Amino acid sequence: MSQSSTEDPTLDAAPSGVDTSVPHSARVYDWWLGGKDNFAVDRQMGAALVAAIPTLRDMAAENRRFVHRAARYLVAEAGVRQFLDIGTGIPTRPNLHDVAQAIAPETRVVYVDNDPIVLAHARALMDSTPQGRSEYIHADLREPGGILADDALRATLDLDRPVALTLIAVLMLLRDSDDPAGIIRTLADALPSGSYLAITHPTQDFNPAEMDAAVAAATHGGMTLVPRARDEVERLFLGWDLVEPGLVPVMAWQPETPPSDPTAAYYWAGLARKP
Ligand SMILES: C[S@@+](CC[C@H](N)C(=O)[O-])C[C@H]1O[C@@H](n2cnc3c(N)ncnc32)[C@H](O)[C@@H]1O
Repeated sequence: MSQSSTEDPTLDAAPSGVDTSVPHSARVYDWWLGGKDNFAVDRQMGAALVAAIPTLRDMAAENRRFVHRAARYLVAEAGVRQFLDIGTGIPTRPNLHDVAQAIAPETRVVYVDNDPIVLAHARALMDSTPQGRSEYIHADLREPGGILADDALRATLDLDRPVALTLIAVLMLLRDSDDPAGIIRTLADALPSGSYLAITHPTQDFNPAEMDAAVAAATHGGMTLVPRARDEVERLFLGWDLVEPGLVPVMAWQPETPPSDPTAAYYWAGLARKP
């Protein structure tokens, strides 16, 4: 642990394996959403990013609202009953399985994250309805083969039936050298026709100056943040059929009420079906 961890008054409260000497995206995001599972170093990073993009907290809330709308669409309209959510984050009510199982209690959800603080809260992600099931796998998106081979995944999801793969606000934490498109291909190849892919991704397209400042703040604090332009995000959906309204600003994806400025949240969002 570095020097700064010993200055963190919350260190004693950290669950085992949780490093409070460097900011972690799950905890920074938790702080933006008003959660309590964050440490001084995360709040510092969160504040530096908010200084760069003053509306960042609203954007995080918009991203969560997309999760809920997409889950409702997938269960109620597309008939999906299985989800694989990678980069889940610290539990935030309602979680994906809460929304899905409220419509179809038999829905099965596998959550995946690689942050020890998410692992510490995994129990809250596994409070399924009796008819359904929710599981947590502690694993890394950069090793998709390991996720697919995991016993808990195999015991929970039937990969001969459609699965919704949800990669929500996680791909910006992967560098191009991690090959996000290749990772998605590996996961997609394991899923049958009729499966779905949901992605939200921060972008520089709507306000390059603010996003550049955020990337600089993240880099300064030792955190990876790779915003991507529309065509880069679109390429992640290669071979999938985007459902209406296509790849759009997150606030414009099947909104309950049309936003006055859909580009106010700097995320692209899309949901697509595997042909
Ligand atoms: C910004 S949070 C998003 C949480 C949630 N998907 C949402 O949008 O509300 C990103 C999450 O991705 C996780 N994550 C980052 N890199 C990952 C990786 N390589 N494998 C698995 N999870 C990862 C982080 O630990 C964090 O919990």
